[in-house]
Amino acid sequence: MNTPFPRTAVFQDGRLCSLGGVDVAALAGDFGTPLYVLDRAELVGRMHEWRDAFGPDGTVAYAGKALLVLAVAQLVDAAGLHLDVASAGELHTALRAGFPAERLFLHGNNKSVAELEQAVDAGVGRVVVDSSSELGRLAALADSRGQTVGVLLRVTPGIAAGGHDFIRTGGNDSKFGFSVSAGLAEEAIGRALAAPHLDVHGLHCHLGSQITTPDAFVAAVDIMVEVMARVRDRHGVVLDELNVGGGLAIVYEPADEAPVSVEEHARVLRAALAAACTGCDLPVPRLVVEPGRAIAGPAGVTLYTVGTVKDIPGVRTYAAVDGGLSDNLRPALYGARYTFAPAGPGAPVHRQRPVTVAGKHCESGDVLGRDVALPAGLAEGDLLAVAATGAYGQAMASNYNRLPRPAMVLVGDGEVRLILRRETLDDVLSHDVALDDL
Ligand SMILES: Cc1ncc(COP(=O)(O)O)c(C=O)c1O
Repeated sequence: MNTPFPRTAVFQDGRLCSLGGVDVAALAGDFGTPLYVLDRAELVGRMHEWRDAFGPDGTVAYAGKALLVLAVAQLVDAAGLHLDVASAGELHTALRAGFPAERLFLHGNNKSVAELEQAVDAGVGRVVVDSSSELGRLAALADSRGQTVGVLLRVTPGIAAGGHDFIRTGGNDSKFGFSVSAGLAEEAIGRALAAPHLDVHGLHCHLGSQITTPDAFVAAVDIMVEVMARVRDRHGVVLDELNVGGGLAIVYEPADEAPVSVEEHARVLRAALAAACTGCDLPVPRLVVEPGRAIAGPAGVTLYTVGTVKDIPGVRTYAAVDGGLSDNLRPALYGARYTFAPAGPGAPVHRQRPVTVAGKHCESGDVLGRDVALPAGLAEGDLLAVAATGAYGQAMASNYNRLPRPAMVLVGDGEVRLILRRETLDDVLSHDVALDDL
């Protein structure tokens, strides 16, 4: 049975006791709850697994959209990975963390001129061009700067895959990229190759997220290589990079289908690429991948305190915690399910019953876990841990109901580092401008 908790998690009598050698009750006591806990060994271990699986002839770019704070950017840099950023804010975070610009990929389906300028001025390694208008803007900007900009073109191969409609991106009806089937991809590649200051290295696609099997990736590689072969035939240019994006799934609940291992993912992608290139008599381009969830997801655990337990006889038992959709939007947005566990000291867990873990927001949809098996004696004041919250948790956090966003700590080898300060109520108001004429 898969465990979605980090590799350093220690349980006793069915209760989570420590992460990274640090007592979770002490963490809650020192930093409050809700609290994001990032397990350093799991996070860095996964970065190294991806780096080693794709080896020196491949490139792994961590997808910052999953989770990007200064400390995470620093760890990505220290692991020798590249970094995929998708906005001015993510780019600014990376640069402020001292991340080498040449190892950055800039994404976005509607990059502003300001974002393109920020990227070009910083010397970002690759701008992943997503639309015809952007291509024009970027070419003009590079000309005006007299600066050569490395680019990839994002194309949609017509293959959508992933755990929810909202996170499937590679199909023909997608807001992202240039469609292959409509011929827009090749038209754009021709324009990019003709642009004097754009250095076209290759193609990019991202099929979707939470993908468990390699089939969709293999099919996409075939289509992408065919496009690259047509570019060679038509323009005499051999593109040297193929970026197949991210998307590899993780386990959220023990019964989930386990995704293929990183090693197997790498092996399958490499084999598919080699076979497709042989078929088209094309030199094998550098393989690039952009995992986000598969690196950050399992490293994160969120600690909550149960505030109110409400039994509705014959209907349901609710346990409301001190957070909710403002710190983890995925259950409300995608119907995502998570694994919950009682945490800290308490009675051994002998008997469980179904409990619905609700958030504290004024939304009936603010439910973090429906009918979750929890201790029959779950009580107000108890600590609850939720596993695999490292990706698309803090990154999508909000101040709904003007809740301050939680703190994040990095734990490892018995040590705790605060890497994200908890917002205060004054932080929440810090952008308000009061009227002064009343
Ligand atoms: C362009 C791109 N690359 C990589 C990723 C990361 O995907 P995942 O977190 O599923 O690995 C995303 C996610 O949306 C993406 O849009």
